[in-house]
Amino acid sequence: MPLTIPAERWYKALRLRRSRRRFLPRPLGPDEHTRLEVLCRDFSPFPGARAVVVNASPEEVFKGFLGHYGKIKGAPAFTVFIGQPGDPHTQEKVGFLGEAVVLEATSLGLGTCWVAGFFRPDAAASLAGAAPDERVLAVTPVGCVAEEWSFEEKAMAGFGRSHRRKPLSDLVTGPPEKEWPIWIRAALEAARLAPSAVNRQPWRFLVREESITLSTDDLNDSYGISKRLDCGIAMLHIEVACRVHGIAGGWRFLDPPGVATWQIEQSDAIPEADVIERGISPIRGNAWPALRRRT
Ligand SMILES: Cc1cc2nc3c(=O)[nH]c(=O)nc-3n(C[C@H](O)[C@H](O)[C@H](O)COP(=O)(O)O)c2cc1C
Repeated sequence: MPLTIPAERWYKALRLRRSRRRFLPRPLGPDEHTRLEVLCRDFSPFPGARAVVVNASPEEVFKGFLGHYGKIKGAPAFTVFIGQPGDPHTQEKVGFLGEAVVLEATSLGLGTCWVAGFFRPDAAASLAGAAPDERVLAVTPVGCVAEEWSFEEKAMAGFGRSHRRKPLSDLVTGPPEKEWPIWIRAALEAARLAPSAVNRQPWRFLVREESITLSTDDLNDSYGISKRLDCGIAMLHIEVACRVHGIAGGWRFLDPPGVATWQIEQSDAIPEADVIERGISPIRGNAWPALRRRT
């Protein structure tokens, strides 16, 4: 049965998620594995984008990549994100789908880290059973992580720098902030917390009364990783935040540097107080509510 977005669960998860690169020597529990497998099987927001959970160490996939960035240790499992090279929107579609897996894993208390730069796509494709006409765009290790970050992880994250986000004022054009309805603010704050390669935050947002349009800041990809992949991740954060606030809508893909427009189809906007009553606090500024909690 097709799976719809579990908006509240993923909205909570998108605030807790942080990239984790050191894993505990513990296999995935059967329930954790099944939940991820079911998601990969049943969540299919865009045909041609798919994800495969591999319940084995990703050692082969990361073998040979030295240095700090991208060094993943000890993961018991990983997920492979696969797209169609002929589709001009494959990057954003795979970003959207892949982040769904990441948020589901986060909601299960597992650690993840998008890796699109320093890995072996051929090894990942073979372990995931990708077809010759498919292309692996990224992977994430999945597994249990220690509550406290290891020294190496902290060093890699530049003691917080790699998690800092740009202020919305640098990212958004459109009406002034004070005129934004709650759902627009929530969607933009959620998008801003999305992970991006080397934390480059390439997304730009054009706000209108009933839509949010994402574009990339420019057409120059860095590290050979498409900025549209980052934007696909931010798209899922936007949709999740909108759904939590009672806003249904749909995506229309755009030509570069545009990525996609979220257009409202139905608005039963929920007042912020009601959202808070359901145990979901609003996102405000750069603060993660649970920086030191297990992700
Ligand atoms: C598309 C994409 C590719 C990434 N590639 C890598 C990678 O190759 N190696 C790595 O260690 N981290 C990678 N990251 C993780 C980013 O460095 C991380 O998301 C960013 O610094 C923000 O930190 P946070 O995820 O903890 O919020 C990638 C993230 C994204 C979204």
